[in-house]
Order: sequence, then C-alpha cells, then structure tokens
Amino acid sequence: MPLDPHVAAEYVQTQAAGFTPRVGIILGSGLGGLADKIDAVASIDFKDIPDFPQSTVEGHAGRLILGRLGGMPVVCMQGRIHLYEGIDPQDLTVPVRVLKLLGIEILLVTNAAGSMSEDMGPGSLMLISDHINFTGRNPLVGENDDRFGPRFFPMGDAYDATLREHFKAVAKEMGIKLHEGVYLHYLGPNFETPAEIKAFKVMGADAVGMSTTPEVLVARHMGLRVAAISNITNLAAGMSKTELSHEQTLECAKLAAEDLESLVTIFLETLKRELLKAHLREEKNGDAE
Ligand code: HPA
Repeated sequence: MPLDPHVAAEYVQTQAAGFTPRVGIILGSGLGGLADKIDAVASIDFKDIPDFPQSTVEGHAGRLILGRLGGMPVVCMQGRIHLYEGIDPQDLTVPVRVLKLLGIEILLVTNAAGSMSEDMGPGSLMLISDHINFTGRNPLVGENDDRFGPRFFPMGDAYDATLREHFKAVAKEMGIKLHEGVYLHYLGPNFETPAEIKAFKVMGADAVGMSTTPEVLVARHMGLRVAAISNITNLAAGMSKTELSHEQTLECAKLAAEDLESLVTIFLETLKRELLKAHLREEKNGDAE
C-alpha cells in the first residue's frame, strides 16, 4: 500500500490542534539550529507519524516542529529523507504533501552543498535560482494523483522570483553576502569525482548536493511557491586538497549557519508584514466594491 499523506497530516493536526502553518521549512545537514529558534506549539518525531517515510540513515531520525519563527506560523522538517537511502522515490512525495495539507503556501528549502566556484568558498550562502536534476529519479513518476496537481507541469519559474528578490533585499540590509546560482542534485551517496565536477561546471551548475530537487518537484506540482538556499560547506571535488566527508560537511556547515538562521528569521518577519499588507489591501478593495 502506498503511504497516504492524508493519514499523516490528520495525525499531525491532532497534535497541533488549531494551528495552521503558512510556510514550510526543510532544514539541511548541520542546520538544525534554526529549529531551536522556533516558538514551538508541537514537536513530533517522524517515527511517530503514521504513513510518514522513515530515514534509513542512523542519526538522521528527524522531527516535525510546528510553531512561530519571526512571528510567522511555520512547520519545520528537522531532517529529511534522501534518494540515496534507496527508498521508493514515490514515498518522497509524502513529506511535502503533508506540509501542504497542513496549510503551507510557501516552501523554504535549505541544504549543504559543494561549490564549483572559487569565489564562493566554504561559509558562503547561495540562493538557488534554478536546478539540474542529475539523479535520473523523480518522485512524481507513476500514476498522477490529480488531487495534488496536473500530470504535466512547468518548471520554468520553480524558484519564485519575488521571494528571491525579497531574500536578496533582506540579505543586503543585514550585510550578508548572498550568492545566486544553479544547484545540481547528484544522487550520491559518494561525493563526486573531479571529472564529474568539471562536467557539471560545463553544464552550468554552480553548486552540487544530494537533496532538494525531489521536494521542489513535489512542491511545484502542487503550485506552492518555493525558495531555497545552499549552505556552502566546501569547494567541490578536485578544487581543493580537503578530503570530503560527512564530518567535514557538518563541521563547515557551522560557518554560515548563524547567518542563514538570521536571514531566514528576518525574511519571515518581513514576509509576514508584506502578506498582512496585501491582505489588508484585498479587504479594502473588497469593501470598496
Ligand atoms: N557534493 C555533494 N554533496 C555535498 C557536498 C559536495 O561537495 N558538500 C556538501 N554536500
């Protein structure tokens, strides 16, 4: 039996009665600190949620946290499931569909990534402008579930232009350097070879990592607005003498983690104000009609 996101969402709703998140956040490796900043209403282990896919990687268990961040009602996935774990790609439709069923309109995705540009070293942040799905996998392959979205859908503007401008404006105001570029999803679980990195540069990629595209595909299928940021933990394979490892990723994820946490928090704070203003404008226009 395929996993049913409705079953999972109903369970979460019983744990956070009356709370409706507007923004979903997926936290990448080493970025769990943001979860601690949430004024939490509920915190639920993935393993306690029925019909929620479980990570097979030890220490990657994961939690769903509902609460307020920067005043915005959010639901945050601390930990995610990756294609390289060997799970059925279709199961990867479930987490983002659950977030949508809970009420989100916007999805913010973060990840750890290697950089393919000398000018964007460890400790940099990169706003994702577009992606290359190099995994050959797609969670939406199979029978289409029309309740969530159409069979065919465009990916031309997957990373919302308005949200990107908003992120850039907030970063500028905060004095945080925010690069922008194309993210390539490599299946993993190994890090790339230097020859692969050379090829990916020619293909137009700026950063490489092992996540994000499945979630973004599922979100765009449902028409959610998406923004994503890579936390650059290293120069990609062959570009420096550093031996790549998961430990190295986690250690260097700390370099920009604080900047990323502040950036996301202030982004949500200002977004909340903008949404409120737009809502008030709509109400006023409605009254005038
Ligand atoms: N490659 C793939 N995934 C990564 C990297 C990398 O260089 N750094 C952090 N995650």
